[in-house]
Amino acid sequence: MPLPPNRTAKITAVGKYLPERVITNFDLEKLVDTTDEWIRTRTGIIERRQVGDGEATSHMATAAARDLLEKRQIDPEEIDCIIVATVTPDMFFPATACLVQNNLGASRAWGYDLSAACSGFLFALDAGARMIESGSSTKVMVIGADTMSSIIDYTDRATCVLFGDGAGAVLLEACEEGNEGILDSILRCDGSGAEYLCMEGGGSLHPPRAETVAGKKHYLYQDGRIVFKYAIKLMADITAEVAQRNGLKSEDIQLFIPHQANQRIIDASVERLGLREDQVLSNIDYYANTTAATIPLGMADAVEQGRLKPGDNVVLAAFGAGFTWGGIYLRWSEVF
Ligand code: COA
Repeated sequence: MPLPPNRTAKITAVGKYLPERVITNFDLEKLVDTTDEWIRTRTGIIERRQVGDGEATSHMATAAARDLLEKRQIDPEEIDCIIVATVTPDMFFPATACLVQNNLGASRAWGYDLSAACSGFLFALDAGARMIESGSSTKVMVIGADTMSSIIDYTDRATCVLFGDGAGAVLLEACEEGNEGILDSILRCDGSGAEYLCMEGGGSLHPPRAETVAGKKHYLYQDGRIVFKYAIKLMADITAEVAQRNGLKSEDIQLFIPHQANQRIIDASVERLGLREDQVLSNIDYYANTTAATIPLGMADAVEQGRLKPGDNVVLAAFGAGFTWGGIYLRWSEVF
């Protein structure tokens, strides 16, 4: 049977998981030469979460997925595909998506991991939407999950204050009328920025050796000033581009859900769009930068707080390692 010409993918359920352990700025004051005041004023972060012993990305992703399945009241066997956006998989292989599939008992699903750092969830959401639009799948689970504490050097004050652990998940299903769901996306990458935000060690270029461990190459490296300069411009540019391309003026946008790397980067995009504070989702204060998890966590919080209703115009935006960045426009639908 031919597909309806305008079929889109809409989000029908969201789920989240945050580990119990809370690391405050005051806790970090005891580890490195920093202050709560510096972290708050330069980043907007107050605290972040950290996994417990033995807890990894697949466990958080599974918990977020279970939360979603419970809310949507569906059986895991109904899931066609699981995409996990992450830069901190449990292992290089098998993919975290396979571990999640097994944990859930999603016996009909295939899946894979997607590596696009802080833009990972947007890239995965776009890929999942295409599966729904093409008719190849009816239920696609898109998860953003990262255990940043596993690749952070807790003696480096420039990076250890910025990141946290967490996971968020959404379910994509078809909207046959094509008037809700993911309506547009603009996604980009520029590998000339690779050296400014990366983890050099452990891959095929620098396989794990005593020297790579001694050289701290298995930790996240960031040139914060350079990344900040690009993030502040490129995230604001792409947010404006996706809004403009869809004829969205500031008053037409009910909620902007940006990646949460630094409150000052969020503010630059908000200023460019001319949005009021109540049109913006910011939860960086309590979660910090959870990499691929920031946007689905933001969606889950917005739903919990009753800030989204069917028909709302929502803009998502992200910037991250690669460099990668993107903007997505979606019209919110009924969500469980
Ligand atoms: N506590 C206290 N001082 C700190 C500090 C900390 N945790 N981290 C850095 N500093 C110091 C620096 O050493 C520097 O000191 P110096 O002037 O003596 O060299 C000073 O604070 C200012 O550093 P700077 O890097 O200019 O600060 P900043 O205002 O740019 O903020 C970041 C630093 C990391 C918060 C900011 O650059 C940033 O957010 N970068 C992008 C992050 C990002 O988006 N990453 C992920 C992409 S998704």
